[in-house]
Amino acid sequence: MSQDKQIHLCGFLVAGPVVHSHAIWRNPAHETPFLTLGHYAGIARTLERGMFDFVFFADRLAIADRYGDSHEIGIRHGDQDATRMDPVPILGAMAAVTSHLGLGATRSTTYDAPYNLAREFATLDHISGGRAAWNVVTSMNDGEALNFGVAQHLSHDERYDRADEFMELAFKLWDSWEPDALVLDRAAGIYADPAKVRYANHKGRWFQSRGPLNIPRSPQGRPLIIQAGSSGRGKAFAARWSEVIFALQPNLTRMGVFKADVAAALEKEGRAPDAAKVMMAVMPFIGDSRAEAEDKRDLHDSLVDPRVGLSTLAAHANADFSSLPLEATVNEIADTGSQGNLAALRSIAGDGSTTIAEAGRIYGRGVMCPRVTGTAEDVAEELISIVDSGAADGFVISPAFLPDTFDDFVDRVTPILQKRGRLRSSYGAGSLRDRLNGAGRP
Ligand SMILES: Cc1cc2nc3c(=O)[nH]c(=O)nc-3n(C[C@H](O)[C@H](O)[C@H](O)COP(=O)(O)O)c2cc1C
Repeated sequence: MSQDKQIHLCGFLVAGPVVHSHAIWRNPAHETPFLTLGHYAGIARTLERGMFDFVFFADRLAIADRYGDSHEIGIRHGDQDATRMDPVPILGAMAAVTSHLGLGATRSTTYDAPYNLAREFATLDHISGGRAAWNVVTSMNDGEALNFGVAQHLSHDERYDRADEFMELAFKLWDSWEPDALVLDRAAGIYADPAKVRYANHKGRWFQSRGPLNIPRSPQGRPLIIQAGSSGRGKAFAARWSEVIFALQPNLTRMGVFKADVAAALEKEGRAPDAAKVMMAVMPFIGDSRAEAEDKRDLHDSLVDPRVGLSTLAAHANADFSSLPLEATVNEIADTGSQGNLAALRSIAGDGSTTIAEAGRIYGRGVMCPRVTGTAEDVAEELISIVDSGAADGFVISPAFLPDTFDDFVDRVTPILQKRGRLRSSYGAGSLRDRLNGAGRP
């Protein structure tokens, strides 16, 4: 008997006042204590109650000051980069208050050091019992380069070349302890078997590292690998390394095209076309009635200053287009940052005729996350239909407010998905990777 396709769920976060929605910290109903442990611990418990596969932190390594060559707008009005705390320590705290929820963080192959990174994720994987995930990014803009003493960001494709070698080295380090290297024979005084702990001796174009890692192999061996590049080179990289691919596509048609491109890229790498799960970002607005959900959405949108959207768009595109008039089209923005994001933005009007003013509004409201608005039944139905159309394996739930969106989703949509046989009712045993690959079905 064929089983209905399971829906994978990820709770999307930034360790700051804004996620995709720039209205989050302006919630009129209550404060959003985004600098406190309690905020993140509460969200982790909620997502686990809602049977999410994992929580995930996006991250960037600089404030946004590309637009108008100034941080005036971003800092004054609170854009996506105005504050980002380091997600990995927060995941450690989230691990302590949950037992099953996967724990994902973004780290950069352009600015992090492979040895440090391998240690961080091996540690997180140990202390969480096999729940660590790494979103591999190549970073986006010159602001990040300047924080690491580099005058200019590496070129787009060079960043991915470096990322390939970073992955090779990180994998060598994670593999430097065999699974049974740790002996812990207390009576004989044997800690580990040196024959099963190997030097990496990596000498490449970008990195040199002797290894071995100073941490035994972790429960998953290595973190679950997530990637979100959406250019051609980005997809090829994802096809080589990733187990989950995040995408932000503004509509169903583009979701379908993206998923098909990923399947083709995976096959080109010699992997099965469904070897990596594709998870699409969506921002739900849930009400008792459709009208109530639309009111929530409209209130949310009224709190967004389009200028913060422009600040974030400039950071993503790594381009200062402040000299262009607001009536100019997004086609006129030169892009050296995230090519995939700008291509998606151009696709919104089909021919790139979206104006810069409109792009500011779209970006401020939620970057380009498609919104799913209606009753819990409507939202569940729409998510199921996207998955059944073959355009996604699951969703990155991007909050409009915190913790409100996750509370609404978990209290109202999770039970419907469970009743429809699309979401687990308990986690069962196993690692995050096991779960993504099908363990714990309802
Ligand atoms: C849904 C999504 C989430 C992303 N999250 C991050 C992030 O948190 N930090 C970051 O530096 N880049 C992030 N990126 C950027 C990509 O990882 C990638 O480095 C960038 O898009 C450039 O590659 P591309 O031109 O192939 O898209 C994200 C991209 C997408 C589509």
